[in-house]
Formats: sequence, structure tokens, C-alpha cells
Amino acid sequence: SKTYRICTLPGDGIGPEIIAEGKKVLQAVGKRAGVTFTCTDALIGGAAIDATGSPLPDATLEAARASDAVLLSSVGGPKWDSTDPNAPRPEQGLLGIRKGLGLYTNLRPVKIYDALAGASTLRPEVIKGVDLVIVRELTGGLYFGKRERFYDEEGAGSNGGRGQRAYDTCEYREYEVERIARKAFQAARKRRNKVTSVDKRNVLETSRLWREVVHRVHDEEFPEIELEDLLVDNTAMQLINRPADFDVVVTENMFGDILSDEAAQITGSLGMLASASLGDGVSLFEPSAGSAPDIAGQGIANPLAQILSVAMMLTYAFGMDEQAAWVQDGVERVLDDGWRTRDIADGSTPADHVLGTSAMGDKVVEYLG
Ligand code: NAD
Ligand code: IPM
Ligand code: MN
Repeated sequence: SKTYRICTLPGDGIGPEIIAEGKKVLQAVGKRAGVTFTCTDALIGGAAIDATGSPLPDATLEAARASDAVLLSSVGGPKWDSTDPNAPRPEQGLLGIRKGLGLYTNLRPVKIYDALAGASTLRPEVIKGVDLVIVRELTGGLYFGKRERFYDEEGAGSNGGRGQRAYDTCEYREYEVERIARKAFQAARKRRNKVTSVDKRNVLETSRLWREVVHRVHDEEFPEIELEDLLVDNTAMQLINRPADFDVVVTENMFGDILSDEAAQITGSLGMLASASLGDGVSLFEPSAGSAPDIAGQGIANPLAQILSVAMMLTYAFGMDEQAAWVQDGVERVLDDGWRTRDIADGSTPADHVLGTSAMGDKVVEYLG
């Protein structure tokens, strides 16, 4: 039978707990579909710093490159939040693997499950029908610009004398905007034919370039798609004011990071937001949330974002749309039958329907297909 090799990156905090559930569902899918998925763990983030001193050991990037797809959970935690600016950070591992694999497109789908209408902090009539995808540029902008921290004669804090000074530069090249714009318009063609491009062109030069290039790509290649421009601050507001109006939202790296956590909360929990990070080679699938240090080690984290990231892997890495639908439908039926993890439970959830991480993974397997 066909074999797919997956490089799995458990990372930190709730990472190992939720990735176990992703693997569980993947194995169940493999069994039913008659294909073999082999998962091989590699080190990233804080776990990699502890073991090797580096947040992204060369062996990990090599293993990722040699795989058919990468499944990541999350990295980071207070243990590695050193005040030493030169100390390695877990997050550098994540940024390094995105850059190393050339993953410039990050898709973060936000869809309301009917059963979860009550779990959102927004009113049911506001969130009814929400089905949008954030197309986040992932290898440019502030995240990969020049950065430095140094001492200066001016700007001392309460220390007096010389003050510290730091900067991060935001940079975009035309081709980087062009290719992400194309991905957004292509996504819209398969959806409701609408793209909202988010920028801050009233202030930022990179945003003025962004808007110009997005419009050129639109006019030349996708004139039939409806294109709306919004400033990022206004978008933050509109997302909770009229979330159902959005279809594809395309934006630069940091705006996409911030807006996607906000959009996730429309669904009730950050623990529901899956993502796919795509380039021209091997792709990576990861929940959008972090390592949730506040609940790590308790067995209560929501594994559904990880499991839905497995569904995205089936679609985008292996073309197994039918099997991806087994997983998505399974999740939907689990929710329809009232099963919840703590983060998506509400006052009406009976105590015996609030599941731990592993029990939720088992439920999805039970309801698969
Ligand atoms: P976070 O996303 O880890 O957590 C924010 C809140 O959401 C917390 O209250 C947490 O308990 C909750 N939450 C997140 N995932 C959940 C889940 N699956 N089930 C239930 N609740 C969940 O953000 P943070 O606390 O600001 O950051 C913690 C660490 O994670 C930091 O080191 C940060 O850099 C890192 N981080 C990593 C990634 C990643 O690896 N992709 C993403 C975001 C943040
Ligand atoms: C995410 C995370 C990462 C990001 C961090 C941990 C580097 O917040 O995947 O959303 O900002 O991209
Ligand atoms: Mn984020």
C-alpha cells in the first residue's frame, strides 16, 4: 500500500498532548483508507533547545525536507523566556522551519459549527454563517526584517546613563506580495469569489506597495473576483461586527497573526483554529494557537485544531479530500452530539460531556467518516 512519511514536531507545553491526538486520528484514517502513515518525531522549540542548544537543529530541518509533510503542534513557554537578548528562543525554531521550507502561504480557516454557536463570546445572530479564511503571508514583513538591540546616548530608562534601543524593520518585495495575492484570489475562486485585502496604507510604505500589487494582480488575472480593501484597525473591528461578510482575507505576516487569533475567538476557542503553511515544496500543518502554558500537562487542552490540521494535511499534502472530509465530518458530529473540551463547554454542557484531550481524540476516531 502507499506510504506517506510524516515528520512530527511535538514541541512544548500542550504540544505533545495534542499532537498525540492528531497522530491517533491519522492512524485511524490510514487504516480505513488502506494507506500507511509513518510518523517520526523530531525536535523543535524549547524541547530542542534543552536537548541540543538550538531551537531548530539541522537534523530537524533535514528530516522535514525529506518528509512528505510536516505536522507541528506548538512551541514556547515561560521556561525559555530569558531576559538575555542573546538566549535562543523556541519561536525562532518555528520561524526557521517556515523560512527553511519556503512556506509563504498560511491558510487559517474560520468556520462556525452550528453546535458551537453558544460557545462564542459573540451573539449567535452575529456569528451565524461565518465561513472565512485568513490568507496570511508567512515569510516576510516584520518577522524576517532586520532587527537589533543596542545602547544609545539617548532614551535611557530609569537606569540613567546610556539607554537601550531596539528596532525591527518591515520589508516586502513585489514578488512576495504578488505570489500571496495570487494564492488569495485562487482560494476565492473555489469559495465565494470575494477577497478582502488588509493593510495600513495610510501610514506604511510596505502597505502602499501591498495595495498597488494586490490590485495589479487582481486587474490582470482575477478581474471577476470582488476585491475590497480595508485598513487593519478597521478590520479588527469589522471582524467582530460583520464576520459573516468575509470570505478570503489576505494580509501581511503580523496583521495576519493578530487578526487570526481574533477571528478564532468567533468560533469560541483558539483551540479550534487549524492552519496549513504552504510553499512550493514540503508543507507544514499546525494549530494556530500556542503552547498554552496555563493548561499544559493537565490533559485538558482542546486537540481539535490539531486534528483539523491533520484534515488540512490530507487535502493539501496528499490530495485525500475524501478522507479529509471523514475527519471534518467526524469533528462536526462529535460537536453535534454535545461532546466538548473545557474551552468550548458552556453552562448547558453536562459534566459527563466535558472530555479531556485524549478522550476527545478517541471520540473523533469513533465518529470518523
Ligand atoms: P496561546 O495560544 O498558547 O494561549 C492563549 C490562550 O488560549 C490560553 O489561555 C490558552 O490556554 C488558550 N488555548 C490555546 N490553545 C488551546 C487549546 N488547544 N485548548 C484550550 N485552550 C487553548 O498563547 P500565549 O499564552 O500567548 O503563548 C504561549 C506560548 O506559545 C508563547 O511562548 C508563544 O510564543 C507560543 N506560541 C506558539 C505558537 C506556535 O507554536 N504555533 C503560536 C502562538 C504562540
Ligand atoms: C502563530 C504564532 C507564531 C507567529 C509565533 C509563535 C512565532 O503566534 O503561529 O500564530 O507569530 O507566527
Ligand atoms: Mn499567533
